[in-house]
Order: sequence, then structure tokens, then C-alpha cells
Amino acid sequence: MSKPVVVVPGLVRKDALVYLGEHVTIKQWTEKTPMPRETLKEWLKEADALWSINTVKVDADLIADAPNLKVIAQASVGYDNVTVDDLTARQIPYGNTPDVLTESVAELAFTLVAAASRRIVENADFVKSGMWAQRPSNIKGKDLSRSTLGIIGLGAIGISISRRARAFGMTVIYNNRHKRADEHLYMVEYRDRDALLAESDVVFVMAPLTEETYHMFDKEAFKKMKNDALFVNVGRGKIVDTDALVWALNEGEIDYAALDVTDPEPLPADHPLLQTGKVLVVPHIGSFTDRTRRDMAMLTADNIILGLQGKPLKTCVNQEVNYKG
Ligand code: DGY
Repeated sequence: MSKPVVVVPGLVRKDALVYLGEHVTIKQWTEKTPMPRETLKEWLKEADALWSINTVKVDADLIADAPNLKVIAQASVGYDNVTVDDLTARQIPYGNTPDVLTESVAELAFTLVAAASRRIVENADFVKSGMWAQRPSNIKGKDLSRSTLGIIGLGAIGISISRRARAFGMTVIYNNRHKRADEHLYMVEYRDRDALLAESDVVFVMAPLTEETYHMFDKEAFKKMKNDALFVNVGRGKIVDTDALVWALNEGEIDYAALDVTDPEPLPADHPLLQTGKVLVVPHIGSFTDRTRRDMAMLTADNIILGLQGKPLKTCVNQEVNYKG
């Protein structure tokens, strides 16, 4: 019997593909240029599964001519490139990779908070450039102890960050759509968004990108923050209006920004954001450790194998169409 066909429209980890290849036939786009959408649609006509990647928009249009698709999975927790309702309408379960990356992303997130508040990169640059003695006072650090961290989007990663913040002596407040009934377990306190912006020394974004969160951080939001606040985004770049952030930094509405995600991504080296001289930007490396990326890729492979066998995915976003086993 021929093996099911899994389309992979870009580069993913080889070890996971070797594992997946024991169960399926893999049809992978290996060119350096992005796979043209029309070619992907053509390949999907014969496919049983899709290993999606976050640069591909996965929606009803993409899968319209893919009658055999039984499962789609992607190696990320965020899925703003996927219109999950369109997959649900076709009874296709969609698997993402929560949990396995929680601690890695929280570690990177808190590393950004600590590095930015003590201006580690700027200070290290002074040593490298032989200017130690002339170091100016504008790269003096700020204390985290006895300061307040405000988290927008308190899910598993936010909770993990809050533990690290408490270890540094910070008070943690949060804003979600709804106050969490279990907030006492995490020693965090709910605030409405405006109160959180006004009260926080560090404003931390860890929300998913949705219609509601798109450009949530605009000029008005930055005006509500303290002038000496640190703004940190580890969620998605488009939650922030980048022009408004550049404005807020240049006008002194806020003090500094530390970003794992930007809009656009990749951020060009001559982008005005970098010219503010008040940012620490890293290239979307929240989950980018060898162990975590391996765990994410293996979980994605497992979700595809299970979906092809008509079994429940380990981690499924649209549980209503997850196989029942
Ligand atoms: C995700 O998985 O959505 C994160 O952006 C990875 O860093």
C-alpha cells in the first residue's frame, strides 16, 4: 500500500523529517525562495497532510482543491497565519505546539527584560570599542526589584515569566480579556488595560495576534505608559503600530523597547526603529534553542502521523474536529 503524502512547503528540521519519513512520503519545497502559492495549491491536490509554516496563509482558498487532506500541523504555538474556522468547516484538525516551548520563550522574554533594563548590549559595546572610561550616563541601568511588571496576555508563557519576575523582586499585574479565577495561584493581580499601562515600569506583551489585538499598541497606548517605562514584545509584531513605537521612543513617551518580534519581520538594518538608539531587537528567537525546536518539530510530526491514522492529535487547536480515537 502506498504511503500517505505530506507536503512541507519550506525548510524544517531534518531529524523530524527523517522520523516522519518512516511513516509517510514527504514532498518538500527545498528552494531558498518561498514556495509560490499556486505551486503549493497544485501539490495539495494529491496531499493527505500539510506541515504548514508561518509564512504561508492557510485558509479555505489554499485547501479548496485538496480533497484528501486529513490533518494540518505547524511547529509554533501561534497560528495567526491560519484561519482555523476554515479548517474546522472541512473537518480538518489543526495541530500547534503549545507547552513544549513555554519555558524557552519565558527564558528569552525575561532575558530581554533584564538585558534591556541594565543596557547590557550598549555597555558591552563600550568595552569592545575601548570607551569604558567615557561611558555616558544615559546607559545607566534601572532596577527591577521593587518595580512593577505588567503582562498583557497571561497564559502559560506569561505565568512562567511572572515566576521569574517575582524571583527578581518585582510585583506582577496582568490584563487579559477576563480576570483569571486562578490568579491567586500565581500571585498576580488583574488590572484593566489603562491601569496596567499607567502603573507598570515594564509593560510586557505576550498576547496572540487577533483582530482585537492588531495595533493594540498605538500612540494612545504609549501615551498612557510611564515616560521611563520599558516596553517588551514577545507576542507578535503586528500587535504594535511600529510607527507609533518609533514616535513614542523619539518623543520620550517611553524610555526603551526590547523586542523579539517586529513588524515588518525581518526588520531591515536601516529601519527607523533601530535609529532611535533605544531598542534591543532580537530576530524572533523565543523558542530558538536546539532542544525546544526539536521538541516542537517532533510534536508536529507526531500530530501529522496521528491525524493520518485517524487518531486524536496530541495538541489540537480545533478540538471539535479532533479525532475521537
Ligand atoms: C511561536 O511558536 O508562535 C513563537 O513565535 C515561537 O517563538
